Amino acid sequence: MGEFVRVEVADQIATIRLDRPKMNALNAHVQGEIAEAAGQVSADPAVAAVILYGGERVFAAGADIKEMADLGYADMAERSARLQASFSAVAQIPKPVVAAVTGYALGGGLELALCADFRVLGESAKVGQPEILLGIIPGAGGTQRLPRLIGPSKAKDLIFSGRHVTAAEALSMGLADAVVPDAEVYSAARAMVARYAGGPAMALRAAKQAVDTGLEVDLGTGLEIERLQFAALFATEDQKAGMRSFIDSGPGKATFTGR
Ligand code: HXC
Repeated sequence: MGEFVRVEVADQIATIRLDRPKMNALNAHVQGEIAEAAGQVSADPAVAAVILYGGERVFAAGADIKEMADLGYADMAERSARLQASFSAVAQIPKPVVAAVTGYALGGGLELALCADFRVLGESAKVGQPEILLGIIPGAGGTQRLPRLIGPSKAKDLIFSGRHVTAAEALSMGLADAVVPDAEVYSAARAMVARYAGGPAMALRAAKQAVDTGLEVDLGTGLEIERLQFAALFATEDQKAGMRSFIDSGPGKATFTGR
């Protein structure tokens, strides 16, 4: 249990809960705790899926501007590596991850949500990359993960302008996967990943790694990654259980062990 980041596990779903009032500003301490939380949920076989959540009011208003304001190049060169490593630890959680976004997800807050596989937004949520208004650019993956998700011109619009995007616009540009009433954000995110509890964990891990790694390489290399992951799954109990169950009882009835 960290000072500002807690991990709560219920029914095989872990919630990584940010709790640093008022705005969940992501200072260096929080970033370290996020990395620890990501490591914990990645390693825990009792966790099938993960929710990133900032509470009912705000997801995160970005890196802590008050902490950064007086830093120089040498300080930030070193800190930014740790920040990116912390967020990459979230992106590499080998399980389905959903960000449950209430209120603001700005700057590093949106970049953290971009490390999830899916984003559920409350209808009054606002997201954006306002770093340009501070005279900087996104430094925790925004210039890389955002264009990969929504395309370069839409990403450049957000990064160049720093404007806030409503939940409705985020949905239309593919930045949100669902928009729900504010009070239902957490439950909707939970419902989105609850289906993975009791799922074929090794196949889900392989699917996530094949998609994410494949997006970073050329098509031939991506296909080779897929082929190797695909073949490897024939060493799992879940492949045997899944196919035997189909033959005996039809589709979708298998019980998986996650091994
Ligand atoms: C530090 C922050 C903060 C932040 C808000 N606060 N955001 N403190 N870092 N990112 C503080 C305010 O100073 C204020 O403190 C309190 O939280 C409430 O904020 P208000 O501005 O009074 O609230 P409101 O008017 O509702 O506006 C909310 C807001 C606005 C729209 C979220 O605060 C805002 O624009 N925040 C900055 C967003 C931003 O620029 N994010 C990008 C950061 S750079 P007091 O003590 O006065 O109550 C970044 C780079 C990532 O993320 C990569 C780095 C390597």
